[in-house]
Amino acid sequence: MRERRAIYPGSFDPITNGHVDIIERGLKIFDQIIIAVLENPKKESLFTTEERVTMIKEIFASEPRVKVKSFNGLLVDFAKKNKARVIIRGLRAVSDFEYEFQMALMNRKLYPELETLFMMPNLNYIFLSSRLVKEIYMFGGCLKNLVPEIVENYLRKKFQI
Ligand code: PNS
Repeated sequence: MRERRAIYPGSFDPITNGHVDIIERGLKIFDQIIIAVLENPKKESLFTTEERVTMIKEIFASEPRVKVKSFNGLLVDFAKKNKARVIIRGLRAVSDFEYEFQMALMNRKLYPELETLFMMPNLNYIFLSSRLVKEIYMFGGCLKNLVPEIVENYLRKKFQI
């Protein structure tokens, strides 16, 4: 039988508990999830691609159904290369909708066999984003329950606090 495989793409700079929640939900539907970490050539990221990939690998070290890879170029090409027909995206609020709608339909135009599946995170994470995590950390705020401990350790190292 064919393996049900999905790709969960993103910048993950850094991964948050909202992302982890979506991955855990995805694992109930798919046999394998490939987390595709964007190598942001233009977007300035706090963590290097290698750091972002390593962090996620550490978080899911005991879950063999989660694979972590980095990619550049078009997401549809990554999907073809990895023989996946489903993209998972988390949808938090109405504000996410327009960007996600545009991306999903453009990806469909580029690769009609590819479906984008939107999933809602737990309500606790509806307001959470990687950008806010970085800001909260930089100004000394508390990240309890917002990111995995591994991410907090990476943030501490990055800011040498
Ligand atoms: O976590 P993000 O930054 O919202 O993720 C955005 C991501 C990585 C899904 C998107 O930027 C992407 O797919 N980039 C790859 C380039 C691409 O395929 N662009 C066309 C999308 S229609």
